[in-house]
Amino acid sequence: IAPLVGRLSKLGPPGELAAALLTRLAGAGAARGGPEIPQALGSINAVVGQAFFVPLYDLFLTYGGIFRLNFGPKSFLIVSDPVIAKHILRDNSKAYSKGILAEILEFVMGKGLIPADGEIWRVRRRAIVPALHQKYVTAMISLFGEASDRLCQKLDKAASDGEDVEMESLFSRLTLDVIGKAVFNYDFDSLSYDNGIVEAVYVTLREAEMRSTSPIPTWEIPIWKDISPRQKKVNEALKLINTTLDELIAICKRLVEQEDLQFHEEYMNEQDPSILHFLLASGDDVSSKQLRDDLMTMLIAGHETSAAVLTWTFYLLTKYPKVMAKLQDEVDSVLGDGLPTIEDVKKLKYTTRVINESLRLYPQPPVLIRRSLEDDVLGGYPIGRGEDIFISVWNLHHCPKHWDDAEVFNPERWPLDGPNPNEINQNFSYLPFGGGPRKCVGDMFATFENVVATAMLVKRFDFQMAPGAPPVDMTTGATIHTTEGLKMTVTRRTKPPVIPNLEMKVVSDSQKPTRSTPM
Ligand code: HEM
Repeated sequence: IAPLVGRLSKLGPPGELAAALLTRLAGAGAARGGPEIPQALGSINAVVGQAFFVPLYDLFLTYGGIFRLNFGPKSFLIVSDPVIAKHILRDNSKAYSKGILAEILEFVMGKGLIPADGEIWRVRRRAIVPALHQKYVTAMISLFGEASDRLCQKLDKAASDGEDVEMESLFSRLTLDVIGKAVFNYDFDSLSYDNGIVEAVYVTLREAEMRSTSPIPTWEIPIWKDISPRQKKVNEALKLINTTLDELIAICKRLVEQEDLQFHEEYMNEQDPSILHFLLASGDDVSSKQLRDDLMTMLIAGHETSAAVLTWTFYLLTKYPKVMAKLQDEVDSVLGDGLPTIEDVKKLKYTTRVINESLRLYPQPPVLIRRSLEDDVLGGYPIGRGEDIFISVWNLHHCPKHWDDAEVFNPERWPLDGPNPNEINQNFSYLPFGGGPRKCVGDMFATFENVVATAMLVKRFDFQMAPGAPPVDMTTGATIHTTEGLKMTVTRRTKPPVIPNLEMKVVSDSQKPTRSTPM
């Protein structure tokens, strides 16, 4: 069609329009003279009305590791091939931006690390990564333990009262409490009670999720966006969060000024080990707005993801009692009565594999979003600038060609004495924390957090789906949620009886008590 496009273009604006349409219809690759990317047919109906990444899996089995999906005038490339994923995320990462994701999240994360691109991203990444050093992550273990203990107390009460619990919202509160302390030393204490700020965080999160899944951007419609009650609520929530963050930044600045500061690579203030404290103490030259954007980004990035990992891990554990039994065996042999230490966490190898495998079956988020900034070639197909791309981590993690019994929850697939599975040693077939320069900065933090919480909970309790609990189906926001919660019956584990060590002493006749001998 290239000559036809050329001739049409010469016919003035109407011809140019027709040429543009023809190019689009024929696929960008064909117009460039390369092979055409397979186009999924009849796809819109298949994708609407359920967690969108699920039908993408069937389309992947039909069309292969890269295909095009059209939504009216919009078109997306769906990538499910590890080689192409590696190319986009790592080898040619400079040619890709965060695209729609940055547009959707702008209202809440501004130019924070997740949506930021180019120079801003480079500068902020260089400032933030050092804050999550080894000593910091180790110090966080006790924070994970304390927060998990508060959850255990809640579950203990529910067990005594014979009440079932909705675990998904409890996990969300657990991880909110953890991330608030870890990032800016704020105790949301959401496991204990609801306050305005906790509600504001949830209003904002739900809005971000609604925007990422809504086909019509109502929040952009002039006038409506100013009068809609929903948008008003969102704006009020954002205002409250921003004011709180500004206050926390101001308090932390004062603390740093009063400190006899000796900043070094593994600097950490024992009273306030937060990332915010590290950034201010490092002399990080950053505007308050940028700092706020980064804190907000980490709050969201580290909250819903970990909550989702715990939710699906516990769901899987109820479905696989043998895995649960093995997990409890390990936890019983490693953990004492106190809170877990870093040495304990290192010994919890099977627990770690349970988390690795849960992240394979339920990757959070299930897709990574990119936009091409220049022409490139993906899997042999030429693509142009401005292509919106979804890398389906879900498809990579469920690919039947790559994984034996891909749908089975089998932590044993990762040997205990082998390396921790990651994108490098699995050659981009396993991407729980992404890969390349934009890989998650909180991967160690999150893994330890999930290991500590899981271990502490299964040590004290048995978990079963509650009788009459709603079916556990998936829906998407930024992460995979359940449609109707995860209702469980929690029972205290009965500890095996302690058998006293009775030493048999040979007692001579003269030592034997007689009735008259006072005891
Ligand atoms: C990026 C997953 C916890 C901070 C990412 C990415 C993934 C991911 C897949 C890559 C996104 C992309 O390439 O588009 C997870 C999972 C977590 C988790 C599954 C929990 C189990 C955390 C925590 C923090 C965090 C606890 C902060 C303390 C970030 C940041 C980025 C990121 C700042 C953006 C990095 C950049 O673009 O340079 N995360 N994450 N994450 N994550 Fe996490």
